Amino acid sequence: MKVKLSGITHFPTHVVLKSKDKHNNIPDFSAEPGEVCIRYENDKTLIYCGIGEKESCTHRIIRASSAKGVQRASEMKRNEVSLILHEISDNPEATMAALEGTLLGGYRFTKYKSEKPDIVKTIELVGSELSASSVHKIEIICEAVSYARDLVNENASEITPDRFARDAQALARTGVISVTVLDEKELQRKGLNLITAVGQGSPTPPRLIIMEYKGNKKDKKKTALIGKGVTFDSGGQNLKPTGSIETMRCDMAGAAAVLGTMKALVRLKPGINVIGVISAAHNAINGNAFFPGDVYTSYSGKTIEIYSTDAEGRLILADAATYCLKNYKPSEIIDLATLTGGIIVALGDLVAGLFSNDDNLAMQLFEAGEKSGERLWRLPLYKEYSDALKGDLADLRNISKFKKGHASSIIGAAFIKEFIEDTPWAHIDIAGTAFNEGQAKGEIPQFGTGFGVRLLLNYLLK
Ligand code: BES
Ligand code: ZN
Ligand code: ZN
Repeated sequence: MKVKLSGITHFPTHVVLKSKDKHNNIPDFSAEPGEVCIRYENDKTLIYCGIGEKESCTHRIIRASSAKGVQRASEMKRNEVSLILHEISDNPEATMAALEGTLLGGYRFTKYKSEKPDIVKTIELVGSELSASSVHKIEIICEAVSYARDLVNENASEITPDRFARDAQALARTGVISVTVLDEKELQRKGLNLITAVGQGSPTPPRLIIMEYKGNKKDKKKTALIGKGVTFDSGGQNLKPTGSIETMRCDMAGAAAVLGTMKALVRLKPGINVIGVISAAHNAINGNAFFPGDVYTSYSGKTIEIYSTDAEGRLILADAATYCLKNYKPSEIIDLATLTGGIIVALGDLVAGLFSNDDNLAMQLFEAGEKSGERLWRLPLYKEYSDALKGDLADLRNISKFKKGHASSIIGAAFIKEFIEDTPWAHIDIAGTAFNEGQAKGEIPQFGTGFGVRLLLNYLLK
């Protein structure tokens, strides 16, 4: 979608954000948050979008309301829309949220539709005091979200581990980041046996991809972002049943969020240091697939007894974290992963699970999420959870001794923690928030949501 700044309206279709405060004489419209009504005046179409009382109106409401506005305009086959922001023009952050809502809400994945729906292609911002550069920054961020959504929505047969490597290498050709790819042979040779095990049942072999962005060589701070990139999670020998397997192309959403974030950093070039790591494997089942009951030695040296081949995300993240710690020495690590179904039981698809060994990092991520509208809620990591992962045959087991399903998201996080050493670390379980099986909710589309990109950028660029 193209964005223009303008003082007056040029297009006949207007999306108008409307609060309850301003006396409004629109019949049968009370400007409640989320309420939309359409009026025709002369040759103009006015799509009024309610934002409630200005006093209590949040960025969340503004984002969702502008998203609805652009969606209605798309349904009405309008290609060009003026976004009228006079009511919030005194608040630059609110107008940014309106632009975000419009860009994010205007997204649709139409690649596999024979008949392409008409969508809004150009918007004109009227009544905002945003500078061209802040508009451009928001465009870059929202394009990175769309890219992450596209990666999740695309067929699992297209988004293979090697496709992640090729997309990262394409980013490196900008000269802004450097990229290292470990292929299946190097993974095996170097002893990243957990990534190797998870990927060995597939004809599309695993990759570990490391992207380095050095925006401030004097600063010692270096944040590592690690994304779970299981390009399809069949469950392996512990095969997922019908009803659970259909959406498993979304199991690389953490990797998509990391790659999207790196793509935005390449364009924004901020003065910070970030390492993006993608641990990519296809958890498949063929004659060569890894076995439940077998023990594998991780890159860290700890041995792992595989109790379920479906608890594969923690395995590939463990090797990725150790590799990153040993070879890149980050000052903090944030991993994003569609790790457990349990987080959907706990928080639904509205909030992601946050786990951390560092209160300050956890708080900053929580705040970044409140700001971006990608909510996080922290869960505990008491010693008893780690104790439940102690192995009998090996050092660790990949699922706990607890009853099936008990505290499964915490257990997943506690497993990763075993490989983090003393580095400040946060794990974000996005199994619920990364993929929306229902209808669009404001700026959150059906299917891949791109969850995490704006959260990470908000955190990194604060
Ligand atoms: N990829 C799944 C988690 C998942 C579930 C993601 C639903 C998105 C939607 C993960 O690899 C998995 O299978 N986890 C198991 C772990 C269990 C075997 C301990 C789970 O959560 O059931
Ligand atoms: Zn799994
Ligand atoms: Zn998985």
